[in-house]
Amino acid sequence: MIRLDKLEVTVLGASGMAGQEYLKLLSNHPFFEVKHITGKSSVGKKLKEVVKFDEDKIDESLLEMTIEKTEVESIKSDLFFSALPSDEALHIEQELAKRGFKVISDASAYRMESDVPLIIPEVNPEHLALIEVQRKKRRWDGFIVTTPNCTTVGLAIVLKPIYSFFGIEEVVVTTMQALSGAGYPGVPSLDIIANVIPYIKEEEEKVSSETLKILGSLEGEIIKPASISLNISCNRVSTINGHLESVFLRTKNDFSLEEIRNILASFKGKPQILKLPSAPEKVIILDERKDRPQPRLDCMAGSVAGMSVVVGRLRKASSRNSLMLTLLSNNVVRGAGGGAVLTAELMFAEKLI
Ligand SMILES: NC(=O)c1ccc[n+]([C@@H]2O[C@H](COP(=O)([O-])OP(=O)(O)OC[C@H]3O[C@@H](n4cnc5c(N)ncnc54)[C@H](OP(=O)(O)O)[C@@H]3O)[C@@H](O)[C@H]2O)c1
Repeated sequence: MIRLDKLEVTVLGASGMAGQEYLKLLSNHPFFEVKHITGKSSVGKKLKEVVKFDEDKIDESLLEMTIEKTEVESIKSDLFFSALPSDEALHIEQELAKRGFKVISDASAYRMESDVPLIIPEVNPEHLALIEVQRKKRRWDGFIVTTPNCTTVGLAIVLKPIYSFFGIEEVVVTTMQALSGAGYPGVPSLDIIANVIPYIKEEEEKVSSETLKILGSLEGEIIKPASISLNISCNRVSTINGHLESVFLRTKNDFSLEEIRNILASFKGKPQILKLPSAPEKVIILDERKDRPQPRLDCMAGSVAGMSVVVGRLRKASSRNSLMLTLLSNNVVRGAGGGAVLTAELMFAEKLI
């Protein structure tokens, strides 16, 4: 797997909530070197002037970089990481792929296109085979690979091993989603302080369709979505980082709690086998203390901070083959920049980029 040539990368939307996470993870990265960072209102400023949190976690040389205009005509790079708003991503990512560039995107614009991989590296790396389908169908040399919505990621990771071992018929999820999931500056303070908002525009639809695509099987040139009844209620709460999700699920086959503990705690994928730089040792951390996981205490848990999903409150539900649990996933790390960087590391290791 050893490759000594570093790829030159650009981060589009580097000044936003998701973009800044990329720059932490790409600081002194062994495979990637950041050459360009772009934005809109912050063009011309140095990154250090716009960083909102954790400046000390970003390499000094990156903090000194100047934010450029997001111009597809002028910027060249081996790889583009896109943390653009979806409306902008729709045009810009396609223009880049047409020009032969490779794009890994956190935006929702292309996630549900049938020829676009929607990837969680531990869950569905085989879906990267869609890259060739996309190139053939769209007649472009570049490609777009997407990563899921921040609420989808934790859910799909936890469902995957249970789905593989026992089958899943039905899932009911209630989310408590952090403010950073809405970008910066996000939800107005007077709307959210001492409050919960039981609606996030288009979120429930996204989590549902994306989860079924990710758990689906690649059949020839298409993905057959998983056949699970998914019912999601999304809520915005006034935490800063980390989406908490209360999950009820009914499996096809009977299980014991011990079996569930074992398959969750031992779940791993290619990133762990290949020991990729951003791969956490444990994809899922079981924490069965009675009041965990909690966003403030646990959202940076794990060997690579913020990349593990923490699961607690495991218990059998009253109906047949039913399980309840609470999961916590860091929306800006595993759910955005970290997930995309890990996807790129896997593609680099497998010589897809
Ligand atoms: N926040 C999360 O937890 C999360 C998780 C998963 C996926 N995502 C996705 O990541 C993307 C970015 O989200 P975010 O939360 O980081 O949003 P954000 O904080 O609002 O940041 C948006 C970024 O895009 C730039 N931008 C805005 N309009 C632009 C334009 N017309 N041309 C070029 N750049 C433009 C902004 O630049 P300026 O600051 O310079 O104006 C900023 O860097 C979205 O597609 C979102 O769905 C976010």
